[in-house]
Order: sequence, then C-alpha cells, then structure tokens
Amino acid sequence: MSTKHNICVLISGNGSNLQALIDATKSSGPSSPALPLVNISHVISNRKNAYGLTRASDASIPSTYHNIVPYKQKQPPTEEGVQSARREYDIDLAKIIISQTPKPELVVCAGWMHILSSAFLHALDEAKIMVINLHPALPGQFNGTNAIERAHEAFRRGEITGTGVMVHRVIEAVDEGEPLVTAAIECRTGEELSELEERVHEVEWRVIVEAVGKAFEGRAKLGES
Ligand code: GRF
Repeated sequence: MSTKHNICVLISGNGSNLQALIDATKSSGPSSPALPLVNISHVISNRKNAYGLTRASDASIPSTYHNIVPYKQKQPPTEEGVQSARREYDIDLAKIIISQTPKPELVVCAGWMHILSSAFLHALDEAKIMVINLHPALPGQFNGTNAIERAHEAFRRGEITGTGVMVHRVIEAVDEGEPLVTAAIECRTGEELSELEERVHEVEWRVIVEAVGKAFEGRAKLGES
C-alpha cells in the first residue's frame, strides 16, 4: 500500500502542466522532488491525440482515453440529447476515477477542456475526492476559454494592468471555485500574445505544483482521504 497521496490528472492537450507535476513527483538527480509524497496514479484524456498521453506513458503512468463521441451517438442530435450525453459521459468519468486502484484522493484538471457537470461533482464529493482546476487568469477575471488571449486584448484596450494564474476548487460555476493558489502576472506594453502565453505557462507550471502541495497540507495521515 503506497504511503503517498495518489492523484488523478485530467488532460486534453500538450500536457505541459502534467509534465510539471510528473517532474515534481519523481526524483531526478541530487535535488529532491518538490512533491515527494505525491504519486500520479492515473491520467485521463478526453482527446485521443493529446501529447499528455505520451508524457504519461513515458513516465510509466497508467492512462485512459475517455471519448465523448459514443455517448453523443446514442442520443438524438438535440440540445437535450447533448446534455444527456454529457451527463452520461461525466457519470462514467466519475466511475472510472472512483474505481481506480489505488483510489485517488485528488483530481487535478491540468489543461482539461471539458466542463464538468454536477453529476460528476456530486459523485466525486460522495467519494470524498477533491477536484481542482488550473486556470490561466485571476479569480473572476476571465472565466472560460481563451483567457490569456482575452487578457492580452483587455490590456491593449487599457482595461487591465495585469493578469495571472490560479488553481481553484471545481464547482458547477465555471472557474468560480475557491482559489487554492493565485499568482499575478504583469502585462507588458507591445508584448505579443505568444510571449505572454509563454510567461503565463511558466507561472502555471509553478502554481500547479504549489497547489497540489497545498491541497495535501495538514492532511493528518498519509493515504487517508
Ligand atoms: C494551459 O494554459 C491550461 O491552463 C489551458 O491549456 C493550456 C495548455 O495546458 N487549459 P497543457 O500544456 O495541456 O497542460
């Protein structure tokens, strides 16, 4: 029985934030890992070609590709059908996570591009598994997709002086949960979007590791959820 805290990481793409967590949990050379008591026990992607799945494989971490298409194909092509498909998909996603051995104590959404429904969140809450999400903006500033681009545009319009990154608890309202860690990032006049994106990603890689460490701070006994 592992005496470490097991976490399940959800991804959709490149997986650079997953890689930051892998690097923080694995010893490499003389320096001790930033998260020595954390083990990434499983990675789940909703996209088959997510490079993060390669990163998981290279790190010998078990992974699952959970595809929503079969769920949509079973439903009529209506708004109600799509909602039903998403609910069934989320219920099965929760079952995949809860039935894992070892059972994770924490789910980390790291570049996960699928809004998790109440069906998923209720199931995880029942199983006493916390869900946190990395979002490249400050609380309440640019919820939803394309946050970095929206911040870049808002800065150019003189509406903001800076942006940031946060990791927050996941609730039904998108990107609205209680923050665990936030980090402010100054915007720079004349900076290209790609340059801001790179600076934001570098902060994400630090913040996601800090947030996972914080999620387990003060946990009485290792291995207890
Ligand atoms: C990150 O900005 C993440 O916050 C967003 O997708 C970007 C890529 O993340 N959701 P990753 O490289 O796949 O971890």
